[in-house]
Amino acid sequence: MDPTRLTNVEDARRAAARAVPRALFDYVDGGADDELTMAENVAAFRRISLVPRMGLGRVVPSLSVELFGTRLDFPVLLAPCGFVSAMHPDGPVGVARAAASRGVVSVLSAVAGRPPEDVTAGVRSAGAVGNPMWFQLYAPGGRDEWEGMVDRVAGLGYSALVVTMDTTALGNRERDRRNGVSAQMRIDPRSAALLALQVASRPWWAARMGAATITARRGAAPTGPTVGLVAAGGSPFTWDDVAAIRTRWSGPLLVKGILTAADAARAVALGCDGVIVSNHGGRQLDGAPATMTALPRVVDTVGGSATVLVDGGIRRGSDVARALAVGASAVLIGRPYLYGLQAAGTAGVERILDILRADLTRTLTLLGCPDVGELDRSWIE
Ligand SMILES: Cc1cc2nc3c(=O)[nH]c(=O)nc-3n(C[C@H](O)[C@H](O)[C@H](O)COP(=O)(O)O)c2cc1C
Repeated sequence: MDPTRLTNVEDARRAAARAVPRALFDYVDGGADDELTMAENVAAFRRISLVPRMGLGRVVPSLSVELFGTRLDFPVLLAPCGFVSAMHPDGPVGVARAAASRGVVSVLSAVAGRPPEDVTAGVRSAGAVGNPMWFQLYAPGGRDEWEGMVDRVAGLGYSALVVTMDTTALGNRERDRRNGVSAQMRIDPRSAALLALQVASRPWWAARMGAATITARRGAAPTGPTVGLVAAGGSPFTWDDVAAIRTRWSGPLLVKGILTAADAARAVALGCDGVIVSNHGGRQLDGAPATMTALPRVVDTVGGSATVLVDGGIRRGSDVARALAVGASAVLIGRPYLYGLQAAGTAGVERILDILRADLTRTLTLLGCPDVGELDRSWIE
């Protein structure tokens, strides 16, 4: 589809639903249990009013921010997401290229479906210049595995490392279960038939994905990476691991999945440079607080000594402004860019970034705020 026809994230969501097999759309769109936390992430933004200042003329705001020495054209990063390779042939390389072309940072998930070497090579071969990428670590295999991975991504030039702490088990994603998509990717005969039907109903997607990602065993439903969701947890990270990772990784280190002041303080005490306030987009513990509920206490506790980022529920540029006003240095988006990718590949991700940037520009102009760096709690109520 022509991505310029997308006017907002919700448009991209609807286009994604039409573009890919139901199981893949639901994998992105769904959350855990009753999806309360997922919905609350969005709702919490909408409860925060923006307070404009008048009489300042036409403000042309500056959106650029610096994170760990890297300048971002605007304060939105692409969050680490698993199985991006199954969503569109452009996959994780396309996502990284889109971020590079728009002057922002993308965070590659350890379970994105392509090795970090392929992604950096793919970005370079496209001649994309932009910010260095970050890498998000999972290590189901334990310490030996993460030590090797930390060294690999350091050698590849990934500039910051994100350790996701909230995947101590995989959340109960009932849409995935109904679609026959389980953590271990066990497909029973009933769900295999269902998945085969879903793929057949999206011939464009099936043709484009081709043999590379669809295990096109004659007569069999797609298996493996197509809709494969590994139990990324395996051996979850502990604070001891974070301390050990700190000694091995010399660049900026962030922990993701933080919702309390105490955990944020602990991360900073261990030498982390930043925390990402996140509930995994409501995909893990349903009932966990919305990230905008958790953000103020984390900012108030560690904001003076560490970089605080937030994700979950950001759907508009005005949400970015709200998060920065509370005290985040930047935000990450997950589903918004995945919808764009499913709908229109790399160009769809770029379109989502363009929409959010234009939104944010307009929001600051209407607020009368000349620079994202000036946003603070006096701009919201
Ligand atoms: C399909 C999907 C896969 C995800 N996979 C990962 C992952 O591999 N690692 C991780 O740290 N977070 C993962 N997340 C969580 C995102 O990084 C991010 O926290 C979340 O999507 C933010 O919420 P939003 O989707 O409302 O923007 C995933 C999210 C989605 C939607």
